Amino acid sequence: MSRPTPPPLPPIGPRSFDSDVPNASRMYDYYLGGAMNFTADRELAERAKSVLACTPSLARLNRSFLRRAVNACLDEGIDQFLDLGSGIPTVGNVHEIVQRRNPDARVMYVDYDATAVMHAKKLLDGNENAAILHADIRDPDSVLSAPEVLGLLDFDRPMGLLMVGILLYVGDEYNPKGLVATYRDACAPGSLVPISVITLEHVSKYDPVTHKQMLDLISVYDDASEQINVFGETEFTTWFDGMRLLEPGVTVLPDWRPDGALESDNDSPAGLLGIGGLGKIVRGPVAEAPDA
Ligand SMILES: C[S@@+](CC[C@H](N)C(=O)[O-])C[C@H]1O[C@@H](n2cnc3c(N)ncnc32)[C@H](O)[C@@H]1O
Repeated sequence: MSRPTPPPLPPIGPRSFDSDVPNASRMYDYYLGGAMNFTADRELAERAKSVLACTPSLARLNRSFLRRAVNACLDEGIDQFLDLGSGIPTVGNVHEIVQRRNPDARVMYVDYDATAVMHAKKLLDGNENAAILHADIRDPDSVLSAPEVLGLLDFDRPMGLLMVGILLYVGDEYNPKGLVATYRDACAPGSLVPISVITLEHVSKYDPVTHKQMLDLISVYDDASEQINVFGETEFTTWFDGMRLLEPGVTVLPDWRPDGALESDNDSPAGLLGIGGLGKIVRGPVAEAPDA
């Protein structure tokens, strides 16, 4: 018996505006309490919350990891950032965190969502050291050779290469590990790479209820323009090949250099779902142990 032909994969490239199809960018904005979302986004986000009540906590924990990772990059002297899948501007944007500590630091945002790009352009108007590129990160050449990117960032010097809360939307068919390697190879040694994704590994061991609810959430996203992909922690750790994982290595998000913020979210079941790490790009042999 012949198997049904799977639906074609959506094309790679920047997406045009469509308020009728719920998307990851605007649903994330809704979870974070933003106003840049439409009825279709809110309805699907509410369905997501009805199956996994802690979905907004998961978004906030990811956002908190982003903030701590960006500050860790600044602590290491990084003064330029390429933020892949930057999202709709919200509280605690990367350029605000960065330019508060170093007004001359540069930030290049990249997102394929038209709403995210439109709002970021408005917000960044007049900021000479920050900009956004409307591009699909699954086409690295369209990012790495864009004149806007090359005009703002110096790839001969270390940068912060942020892939926070984005690769969960990139399925195996687009080889997320290969994408990390391509962007890594474009950056100078000493660059710092924070990455976060979602895993089922911990809930499958310790929290069967949340495990089942997370599987239901994944099904809810079948009706969004992006689907959610989950990754095993061992597999995720290999994405840091060619890098030295800085302390504390790959952990669940609340355990990554906690600073006391978001304590109520830290206790939510969402605390077992998000994992992240911060790699430092090295050339030559990589030491086994995480490096402080
Ligand atoms: C969950 S938000 C994360 C925002 C931010 N990085 C953070 O951690 O708070 C994910 C963003 O990635 C964007 N995105 C997903 N797939 C993408 C792709 N292939 N190329 C560019 N952007 C993408 C979505 O449009 C969305 O704005």
